[in-house]
This record gives sequence, C-alpha cells and structure tokens, in this order.
Amino acid sequence: MKLFIFVLSLISLGFADDEINSRYFPENFKFGVANAAPQIEGGWLEDGKTETVWDHFAHTRPEMIVDRSTPDIACDSYHKYKEDVAMVKAMGLDYYRLSIAWARILPTGYPDKINQAGVQYYKNLFAELKAVNVEPMVTLYHWDLPQSLEDELGGWLNETVADLFAEYARLCFELFKDDVKMWITINEPKQVCQAGYGTGFFAPGVVSNGVGEYICTKNVILAHAKAYHIYDNEFRAASQGRVAMVVDTTWFEPASDSAEDQEASERALQFNLGLYANPIFIGNWPQVVIDRVAQRSALEGFATSRLPAFTEEEIAYVKGTYDYLALNHYATNMINATSDAPIADPAYWKDISVVTWKKPEWPSGSADWFGVVPWGLRHLLVWLKKTYGDVEIVITENGLSDTTGIMEDDHRISYYQGYLSACLDAIYEDGVNLSTYTAWSIIDDWEWTGGYTSFLGMYYVNFTDPERTRIPRKSASWFTNMVATRCLVDTCTK
Ligand code: NOJ
Repeated sequence: MKLFIFVLSLISLGFADDEINSRYFPENFKFGVANAAPQIEGGWLEDGKTETVWDHFAHTRPEMIVDRSTPDIACDSYHKYKEDVAMVKAMGLDYYRLSIAWARILPTGYPDKINQAGVQYYKNLFAELKAVNVEPMVTLYHWDLPQSLEDELGGWLNETVADLFAEYARLCFELFKDDVKMWITINEPKQVCQAGYGTGFFAPGVVSNGVGEYICTKNVILAHAKAYHIYDNEFRAASQGRVAMVVDTTWFEPASDSAEDQEASERALQFNLGLYANPIFIGNWPQVVIDRVAQRSALEGFATSRLPAFTEEEIAYVKGTYDYLALNHYATNMINATSDAPIADPAYWKDISVVTWKKPEWPSGSADWFGVVPWGLRHLLVWLKKTYGDVEIVITENGLSDTTGIMEDDHRISYYQGYLSACLDAIYEDGVNLSTYTAWSIIDDWEWTGGYTSFLGMYYVNFTDPERTRIPRKSASWFTNMVATRCLVDTCTK
C-alpha cells in the first residue's frame, strides 16, 4: 500500500516516464558507484589496523547509534572485496569509488610506521579492479580519523592534524601512484566539522556549537590544500591524476519570490556549501558567512569572529586547489528567511538564520532531510555553474535511503531515473559541465549513526549471516541496464 501511494505521488509530481529526459547520455559520460572503508570494510582491528574515531564512538557511545551497532565487521569487505569488484564489473561501470582507511595504512596516525598488510589490502583491491577494467576513484579521508590523533592532539581542532593528513596523503600518492588517477582528499567536510565538532552528533562527538566547527573547517580546508599541493608538486607530472575535495549540500528552494526568501536560499547555500567550496574555487570564505559570523560573534561578546580568518597567504595557497568539483547531493528543502535568533549561546544554525521545510507531497526516504525532488539537483548544478564557473562537475554521491530494505525497490529506481534525468536536463538544457554520476551505494552498509537500519544499496547485504551474503535488488538490474543503454526510457534520441 505504502509503495502504491509512493508511486502515485511520484506520478503526480511529474516523475512519470513521459517526463523523463529521453536523450542518450553523452558518449564520454561516466558512471560509477561509491562506498567507504568505515562503512563496508570491517576488519576493524585486523592485520595491524587501529581504532578510528567512528570505531571508538560506536563502542563507547552506543546510545548515539540507532541500533547500538558497530562497524566491526560491517559488510566484511576486508575479506570479501573480490565479490564487491565482481558486482561492480557485472554492472558495467567505469568507476568504483572507495576510501582508504588512514588507520589501516598508518596505525599510529603518524608516518612513523607503515602497516604493510594494510597497504597490501588496497594493492590487491586495485589489482582486482584493474583486471576488470574499472577505474578506482579513491577518497583519502571518509571521516575515519585514527583515534590516537583525537586523543593526543584533539583531532581536527588542531592544525597539526592537517599536516599529518598531508603526510598520509603523500604516502598514499606514492604507494598507489600506478593504481589511482582519480583522487578525493576529504569527503564532506561539513559533516566532519559540524556534526563532529559542533553538535557532537557524529564522531568524535565534540560539542562546540558555532566555535569548534569553524576551527575544524579551516583546518580541514588547509589539509586538503596541503595534499593538493603535494600532488601538484611531486606527483602530477608523472601520474597525470586529478584531485578534488567532496562538498555536499541539499538544494534550498526559495519558498517565494520575495527578496528575503531569495537571499535566504543563497545564504543557506553559502553556509552549507560555499563555506567549503568558496576558499577553493574563489578564495576566502563567502562574504555573507564572514559578515554574519563576525556580527553575531561581536554581539555575543567574542573578541574576534568565531570564524577563524585566513591570512592573505593562506587564501592564495588554498585558491585553485581543484581539478574538478566533486558533489554529494541527496535531497531538497524549501526555505524561508526568518528573524535572527536572540543573542545567546552561539550556534551555526543561528548564524544562518533560515527556516527549512519539505512539501508534504514530496516523497521521502527514511530521514527527515530526505525530500525526493529531482529538479533540486538541476537547480543546484546550475547554481554551481553560476557561482564557480564552467568547472567540470563529478557527482560523487546520490541515492535513496529507506528503512525497509525492500528488494523490489521501485522507489529507488524512480529516484535514480528522476535524478539522472535532472542530470541530462542540466547537461543538454543548461550547458552544465557534468562528466560523471556516481551512485551511493552499491551495497547496504553501516550508515554511521543509522547503523544497520538505513538502506541505500542496490545490493542487499544480510548482516546477520556470517557470510554477509550480497543479493541484487531490483534497482541493480535497472541501473545495469541504464549503464548499458545510456538511456533512461525505452527509446532514446541522440
Ligand atoms: C554521505 C556520506 O558521504 C556517506 O558516507 C553516507 O553513507 C551517505 N551520505 C548516505 O547517508
């Protein structure tokens, strides 16, 4: 019944087949699927790997994880990576996005001891991908800081961690220079900093609203820039690879034509995405973020802005550290301006000062933020082009989360069809330089605080089976067919 209502609402929203773009994907357009070490590998203390902040968080703060689960075994990809690669091959994909676990390569977090077993694991994985002609897209940091660096140095609140990340990145660039050409430094700095060092909802669980999250943000951006320059200076000429940092945002659709709501949308985008992208693509923080945080900080009694300033040297050092724009996007919100919150304790949400909501008729996945609105992606892609110029955009994540894990996942097929159609609209109608679409995810995984209760996989994983059996959902065959035909409907045109 639920599914029936869902499909009906998709049709009433114009997601029905006749609304789907019927052009072929361009010949050079690439498809991939994504996942990340802490969510699938397991083997959490195996062969020399040490604890990460997420291992620690799940073990010491089980109340923060919906089902009190841990990622100790997860999909057991540490042992079953060949099965994962076989699935990627069967889907006919160009890319497999995966991440390297810092604590598997450098168990102390420092570059003093290299864990050869960890290095060998990734070497094997890359060899397996090469054998089936699939290119790895590799994230160096998908939220899994070695716990030692949190304990000893205070994690991302300490700029030394940015230097340590750069050393770890240099080592990976060197170790895997023949295997990897598509690098991602850091995944979703917003989640690392806002949830990790602001609200404390994510590991390492530091609560420092409106203060720690901005300090973290500056350090993470510097870490990215240091890694980028290392690649540029020491590896690019010989390796010919590409490097970027993944940014993420929902789309914020202004609820009215009023100047206030239009500004609220722009402000939310600048706080959610510009905070991370502006220093890299334009230079420095977005002006609206600088102004608002400084203004509220002064009223709150801070001597300087809670947003740490970049020096002129840092602005120049960070600016231009990209080879493409990597984007994670899942959902849309409507947005209104609101009056500023009274001056009291600082908070990031008070700095933004907007109200977000979803239209009741929008289908949703499992989470509150999950408004399924394909045109939101198109609007976002156009906004990125307008804001950062004609940069190549790689969608590094997009997908639907549900709580049922249903195998006949027609709602996921509709989601992919709608969002991929929005990509075609952006390419053909709006001239957006979009080269790649990477779906999240190929398999169900450990969804952070969602544990094993939130499903995004095109393959179901039986987490109670020691074999962690993987079984394709209906969406896996739809996606495979889509990649083969490069078309979203029965018949496409050039
Ligand atoms: C973004 C994160 O990068 C990924 O780790 C997570 O699983 C997905 N969103 C889905 O929630």
